[in-house]
Amino acid sequence: MIIVITCSAPGKIHLIGEHAVVYGEPAIIISVGKRAYISAEKSESVKIYAQDINQSGEFSVSEVKEFAEKLQQLWDNCFETKNFAPLYSLLKNEHLGHIKAMIAKTMAELDINTPFSLNISSEIPIGSGLGSSAALSVAVPKALSELFRKVLTLEKINHVAYKIESLAHGTPSGGDNSICCYGGALWFKKGTPNIIEPLHLDFTMKNFVLVFTGIPKLTTGELVSNVRSLNPEYRDSRVKQLGMYTYEMRECLAKQDFTRMKERMNLAQELLAELGVSIDAIDRIHTAVKEINGGAKLSGAGGGGYMVCYHEDLQLLEQTIRDLGYVPEHVELGVEGVRTERK
Ligand code: PMV
Repeated sequence: MIIVITCSAPGKIHLIGEHAVVYGEPAIIISVGKRAYISAEKSESVKIYAQDINQSGEFSVSEVKEFAEKLQQLWDNCFETKNFAPLYSLLKNEHLGHIKAMIAKTMAELDINTPFSLNISSEIPIGSGLGSSAALSVAVPKALSELFRKVLTLEKINHVAYKIESLAHGTPSGGDNSICCYGGALWFKKGTPNIIEPLHLDFTMKNFVLVFTGIPKLTTGELVSNVRSLNPEYRDSRVKQLGMYTYEMRECLAKQDFTRMKERMNLAQELLAELGVSIDAIDRIHTAVKEINGGAKLSGAGGGGYMVCYHEDLQLLEQTIRDLGYVPEHVELGVEGVRTERK
């Protein structure tokens, strides 16, 4: 009998704290009801089929193992020189580079030496700040551990997912993979160890809408490194202020103080714009939503992608967004993290 394992992990939004989280400030990250799915079964070689981009590849186990070693050496060099461009360019130019890297890293971390085939499909738009790569980074180790009957804690899956994310983004905070792994809403602070606390948002979140502002021209790694190359004094004061707003946001959520919550969203957006990660479309939507007493900010790395907006009057919010030529999207928030779909 052929055993097929299907696992999935959700995407995410950053309610607040993106970019500042890279410098040790906290972030509030919430899972969204769009998921990435991985189906895995044993096979005679390592086969990948990525449905959404309609691409496939077939590799031997030793080829994938060599790729894992090459990537690790390159990551180490890039870390030393503080320049991850060579790693990003290798992954971009290699056929199925990112997916192959996820598989290679998982095989190395979980000591898997037997071939398998993976079918990948995702509801999460690629490169839009909704955590498409983080969801896969979590779902791949989950599916392969289930297929090879390795009992892994969520913590271990998250650890492997972070290693995978590091190949794609250099030195990410780890917030994205954590929310895709644990689901719900998280208070995340990078450190040794990371602080990861579930937030129980026991109010209805239906007044949040997402707005897509276009595919970012720059990757997360590039946007993060642009922020890093700002004048340190200019950057650090804004990062610190973003951290303050995140602490205040946590209080607002606990007290269900939506007026202050919207203000924190808007203030965070203005600081993110000062850090250079906003674009005209985001600024326009932010200004219009703020004018009607709503809250609106980019979510994730920025440079485009999804925005998160809030207003008590949902109709007014949606009309304001539509009047600017954009489409308000509803998505479930605070959904379950990584899970097995079917055995
Ligand atoms: O890649 P995105 O758009 O999900 O954003 C990542 C969030 C950042 O704070 C910008 C980077 C990080 O490592 O946390």
